[in-house]
Parts: sequence; structure tokens; C-alpha cells
Amino acid sequence: MEQRSQWGTRAGFILAAVGSAVGLGNIWRFPYVAYENGGGAFFIPYLFALLTAGIPILIMEFTIGHKYRGSAPLSFFRMKGKGAEWLGWWGIFVSFVISTYYAVIIAWAMKYTIYSFNTAWGDDTGGFLFGSVLNLADTPGEVGGIVPGVLLPLLLVWALAFIILLAGVKRGIELANRIFIPMLVVVFLLVVIRALTLDGAVLGLEAFFKPDLSKLANSQVWVAAYGHIFFSLSIAFAIMITYSSYLPKKSDITNNAFITGFANSGFELLAGIGVFAALGFMATQANTSVAEVASAGVGLAFVVFPKIINEMPGMSGLFGALFFLSLVLAGLTSLISICETYIAGVQDKFNVSRTKSVVFGVGLAAIISLLFATRGGLYFLDVADYFINQFGVAAIGLVEVILIAWVFKKLRVFENHANEISDIRVGMWWKVCLSVVTPIVLGYMMFDLLRINIFKLHETDNGNYEGYSNAFIMSTGWMVALFAIVMAIIFTVLKWNKNAT
Ligand code: PHE
Ligand code: NA
Repeated sequence: MEQRSQWGTRAGFILAAVGSAVGLGNIWRFPYVAYENGGGAFFIPYLFALLTAGIPILIMEFTIGHKYRGSAPLSFFRMKGKGAEWLGWWGIFVSFVISTYYAVIIAWAMKYTIYSFNTAWGDDTGGFLFGSVLNLADTPGEVGGIVPGVLLPLLLVWALAFIILLAGVKRGIELANRIFIPMLVVVFLLVVIRALTLDGAVLGLEAFFKPDLSKLANSQVWVAAYGHIFFSLSIAFAIMITYSSYLPKKSDITNNAFITGFANSGFELLAGIGVFAALGFMATQANTSVAEVASAGVGLAFVVFPKIINEMPGMSGLFGALFFLSLVLAGLTSLISICETYIAGVQDKFNVSRTKSVVFGVGLAAIISLLFATRGGLYFLDVADYFINQFGVAAIGLVEVILIAWVFKKLRVFENHANEISDIRVGMWWKVCLSVVTPIVLGYMMFDLLRINIFKLHETDNGNYEGYSNAFIMSTGWMVALFAIVMAIIFTVLKWNKNAT
């Protein structure tokens, strides 16, 4: 058995945790989620979710990794045998699925970084993304051939991930984050400053921060806040357990969790400001409202930004390149963290070398990711993403807190463990959040999701997510969600290598 890896420095661990948290979600997801769910008013459910679920679970996962010093399955196994181990594998297989399409989005961003210098995006840039870039298939579910223009950057993304992961925890992951994260901060600050100096930036900010308090009465807004916090903080993915298992014995836990949580939220807020300042400019140029421009939702980064770049006076190519480069940097550090979950899990369970685990795990992920680089890739990506997030991440979060708080009754033990080594002490609020508040909100969220996705499934095709056909939803959405659970059970049943546990 190789000696367990360790972070070189405290800053190295924090940078890696922040690197995992700050990802595509902060830059393209948060701005439109916040805007659609009440603008300024969204900060209330958002902060509530951050303080009652996000940071408490982050503290819990840091504690688990630090206490049991293992990949997610090994940590859970040490906590409560195979009855807990499967939870670790579930997180790992959900991470595995996510890594296969997350890499593809980074590949698009890479392509756009280069494209930015070539300002001829064409006026209809929606057509540009779906046409020239993705050559999108006509029907969802149709595979079509590989799109060479996506394949090339995708191979580059995997090559980078491969090199970094192969170099190990300290000399690979830590070093990469030490370089990429400061770079990301500088690059993104430049983007935000430029956006703020554009004509009409203030209009965008007004639209973004204008509180629609009536939204607070809508339970969907609260559910959106919780969903976003889970995704954004990379919790319930097996990631934070894996990363904290590389902490030295003497490490602060709660403090690190607060730093990670607030750094991630700070970056999100910055992204919201930057993106909406640019949207304000776009609306002013096109003589429409910010609401109109912002309605692109998911398409904000890859559809609206090219238009903004088209319209910009002076050095627009550089602005675009920096924007997409920040997506690449933020995405890469997150991708590395997702891959590390299965690298560590396989290494622990089967007693293989890190090199073998990287070659096998990342290699397999890279091969599967080719599906998302086909002409039908975007549709597969859309459905897989929705189902794996709802019935993977949110579901794991719910099962994790219920098992730990109510079945294994471990909160007291974890509280003592965290308090012994941390500056900030956790207590009552922490236990109440984990055992009562989070289970209630996530439980309601699951109930609501099942109601929407199962019962509408039998009405009309239009009742499905995005109106996709039943066959497509079944074969891609539910299959992917199920795949993660079935694989988790299979891997749990397999025997541990003798020296692991
Ligand atoms: N937290 C990342 C983000 O905000 C997303 C992510 C998801 C990272 C899953 C790792 C694993 O984009
Ligand atoms: Na994030």
C-alpha cells in the first residue's frame, strides 16, 4: 500500500477546496438562477441555505475525511461498515457521470476562448452555438457523429486533467490550484471591471439586485437555493470527504469550511455583478430590457456572451477571451476534484497504485465523454445533468444527513472531533441544522421532484423535463440516475483488499 498522500500546506488545501467549489456553476449558473428566483430577494433563501445546509454539511464532510482518513467509501466503511460504504460509492458514481459531461463544457469554453479573437461570430449567435459549433442533431436522443471541433479541445481538457492527477495530490492537484486559482481571480476581476465600465452596466445591476419579495412565498425559490448551494459547494459528491482525507492531523476544520464557503459565495456574487453589468450593456445596445436579454438562462455564457463581444467597443476579443478563459480555469480545478473521488476510491478498495487508478478511471471517463461530443451531445448532456443533480446530489445529501444524524447517530462524535482541532466551535445550531432543518427542506425537495418527474411522466410528453420524449427521459435521465445507485451497490458488495481497512 502506498503511503497516504497529504497536502503540503494549509493554504494548499484551502485553495484546492475553493478550486473545487468555484466552477462553471459560479459563473454561468448562479447569475441566472439568482435572477430568475427573485433577484435581490434571492439572497435571503440563498444565505439561509448556505448557513443551514451548505456550511454545516461542509464542516461535517471535512470532519469525516479528516477523522477517517480515507476516500469516501473507505471513510464511510470505517464509520459504519458496508451499511454506510455504499453512500461513498453513490457519490463517486454520481461524480463519475458528472465528470464525463463537465469536461465537455470546459472544452466548449476552450474553443470559445480562441474564437473570441475572431469577432465574426455571426449575428444569430444562438444559431452559431447550435449550428457552427455543435452541429446539433435534429432529434433529442439521436447520437450522430463526433463533432471534430469539440473533440479536439475535449482531448486537451482530458490531457491536462490526466497530467495533473497523475502528478499526485501535492505535486499535481495542489500545485495546479496554486497556479489556476490566483490566475482565475485576476482574470475574472479584469472581466468584471471592464463589464462595469460599459454603457448601461448600471441597468444590468439594477435588474440583478432589484428584490422581488413576492418570490419568497414560493417554495420553488427555496428549493432552487438549496439545490444551487449543494452543487456550488461540491457537497454530497464525495469530493470534500476525499480532499479532507489528505489533511494533516493538526488542521483546523470549521475555519477552513467557513473560508471555503464564503470564498465560493464571494466569487458567485462577483460573477453575478460582472455578468449582469454586461447584460445591461447588451440590453442598451439592442434597445430592449435586461429581462429580455437575461431570459436566455442556461444559454447566457455560450449564446449571449458572444453577442456582447460582437457589440463591444475596443478590445472585445480580449474581453471575450478572458471571460471564457475564466470558465476554463474555474472548470478545470473542479473537474480535477470530481475525478479525484473515483481515483481515491478505486485505489483504496482494490489496493492499486495511483497511476493505475488514474489511467483506468480518467481513461474510462474520457471515453464515455465522447458521447457528449457528438451531434446529439447537448441533449444527452442536458438530461443527464438534470437527473444526476436532482436524483444524485440532492438525494445523496438527504440520505447522508438522515443516516448520520438519525441512524448512525454520529453528530456528537463529529462535533467533538471538529471542536478539538478547530478555532470556531460548533454546537447546537450545527446539530439542529443537520438533523432537522436540512432533512426537512431536502425531504420536501425530493417529494416535489418525484411528484413533478414521475407523475407528469404519464400525462403527455410535454410534462417531461424540457418536453423530451418518454423514451429519451427513460433511457438517458432515469438510467443515469439508476446507474449510479446500481454501481454503488455492486462496488459495495465487492471485497476490500486486506490492507485497506
Ligand atoms: N462546485 C462546482 C461549481 O460550482 C461544480 C462541481 C460539481 C464541482 C460537481 C465538482 C463536482 O461549478
Ligand atoms: Na461553486
